Amino acid sequence: MQNTMKVSEPAAIGDTVLFPVKLCNLPPFRAAAGKLISLSEEEGLNLRRVVSLVGGDPALAAEILFLANSSLFGFPARIESLRHAVAVLGFDGVKRLAMTVVMRDLARGVGPFVRSSWCHSVACAVIAEQIAPRLGCTAEQAYTAGLMHDIGRLGFLRSYSSEISPVLSGEYQDADQVMAAERSVMNTSHQEAGSWLIEYWALPQPFSEVCAHHHDPLAERDSPVLRVIKTACRLANAAGYAPVRYTQRPQYTDVLRSALPDIPVESFPSEEAMQSEVESRLQSFDSRARRG
Ligand SMILES: [Fe+2]
Ligand SMILES: [Fe+2]
Repeated sequence: MQNTMKVSEPAAIGDTVLFPVKLCNLPPFRAAAGKLISLSEEEGLNLRRVVSLVGGDPALAAEILFLANSSLFGFPARIESLRHAVAVLGFDGVKRLAMTVVMRDLARGVGPFVRSSWCHSVACAVIAEQIAPRLGCTAEQAYTAGLMHDIGRLGFLRSYSSEISPVLSGEYQDADQVMAAERSVMNTSHQEAGSWLIEYWALPQPFSEVCAHHHDPLAERDSPVLRVIKTACRLANAAGYAPVRYTQRPQYTDVLRSALPDIPVESFPSEEAMQSEVESRLQSFDSRARRG
């Protein structure tokens, strides 16, 4: 039975963890986006450098221009050039769009579980950018980390769709149960696989930490971005964007209260407002995918 086969070809990569070898067969992370994600404004980055970086990947530049002209931003005048887009959206805005395009392309066309995983990632990113400023994290870093936090699951789906699909069609009490099921067929969890992929692609370390620990309980020592993503991932599930079925859907306000007890719930967007924002982003991102 192909569908229930355990992956039997792990490779020893790293000191202590075994990884399925086919994760190495994912397409390389797009170079322009990889360079962009590793740069920060504090490094004296000027707009000309961003234009030349993104302009080196014409397909990525075209996608960014398309999204810059979409209803997502609602600019009154048409943005005709990458230079104009960078000037209007700024470094952070272009970085967010570049990461969205890259992650959406990785999540394209490999079955229904990829769709729910993509929707969960977008919801997590949108929620993360909203709560980030209250937790000492930049909205841009939070958004990118939200998009990438479950990259390990996408890696499984792109490489081992028939093995991982029965796992994703199950019903679970919590994320620990999901990861136990992943381990039973993949020899590893999406957290470990995601962290490994981030390092394999030489992306910045904070994203690796987020991938590796986003399902751990909240802890005092958490970095701001890790705390944001732990919270945003749970809120995305509570808002109806869980990547798998859970026996019980947590209440959005309960998650907010328990994760962020010092901040009044009313100071965050409501569940309905968050859902409406997620839906509008998904629509914008999908409109380009359908044309592409
Ligand atoms: Fe996860
Ligand atoms: Fe998640």
